[in-house]
Amino acid sequence: WGKEGHIMVCKIAEKYLSEEAAAAVQDLLPESAGGELSTMCPWADTMRFRYHWASPLHYANTPNVCNFNFSRDCHNSRGEQGMCVVGAINNYTDQLYTYGDSPKSSYNLTESLMFLAHFVGDVHQPLHVGYEEDEGGNTIMVRWYRRKANLHHVWDVSIIDTVMKDFYNKSMDTMEGWSDDVGHWENCANKKATCANDYAIESINLSCNYAYKDVVQNITLGDDYYFTRYPVVEKRLAQAGVRLALILNRIFDKKKADT
Ligand code: ADE
Ligand code: ZN
Ligand code: ZN
Repeated sequence: WGKEGHIMVCKIAEKYLSEEAAAAVQDLLPESAGGELSTMCPWADTMRFRYHWASPLHYANTPNVCNFNFSRDCHNSRGEQGMCVVGAINNYTDQLYTYGDSPKSSYNLTESLMFLAHFVGDVHQPLHVGYEEDEGGNTIMVRWYRRKANLHHVWDVSIIDTVMKDFYNKSMDTMEGWSDDVGHWENCANKKATCANDYAIESINLSCNYAYKDVVQNITLGDDYYFTRYPVVEKRLAQAGVRLALILNRIFDKKKADT
């Protein structure tokens, strides 16, 4: 997602944090966050060029198939296992479990939190689990209405921008209408580890069934595409927010239970 998408995901997450998790998040946030997790959620993208190693952690690609397989697909260009968005979510979750340890955790848990909050957002952007061949839609040139764009950017930014314009400053972080679904999204069978692998499987399916569907090089995407795809974007932002809160609540509530 772009900046707006990441902010929306984290604004939703903030609403679902338990008291313990909210306190731990406050403790870990840098001064510059102004007490809001959401302001720090786009941060990882601004570091993409400074933290070169972290660039592959924003996504995972498949060998042009509509399924995700961790051991096949979660690696960087040098073939190092776990260096993709799913591995990153699991890794930063593990790091955050050391919060409150004595002696003090050797990880920079402020960065762990900011990376985790960002990557839980990214794994829900369908094209962040896309085809290797087109780099998750980055090499598919399209027009978004009159404007030149690539398919990846349409899903990161353009659909969200168009919704905000159409509904005059409507933010997509209201959660109105999702209350019946929230419990179901939280239903993650994996007790200690995260369900990031499941979220990646959902994303590649949505990429195949919605993002890539009927799209060819240089196509113009307009109303037909917009009206059938923006509900998917809204749902993925809401799911990402709820699930980020779930992960943080698990990490920090567990800490309390341990002591
Ligand atoms: N770069 C290469 N593949 C990508 C993807 N699926 N998403 C974002 N950036 C990428
Ligand atoms: Zn992206
Ligand atoms: Zn990112």
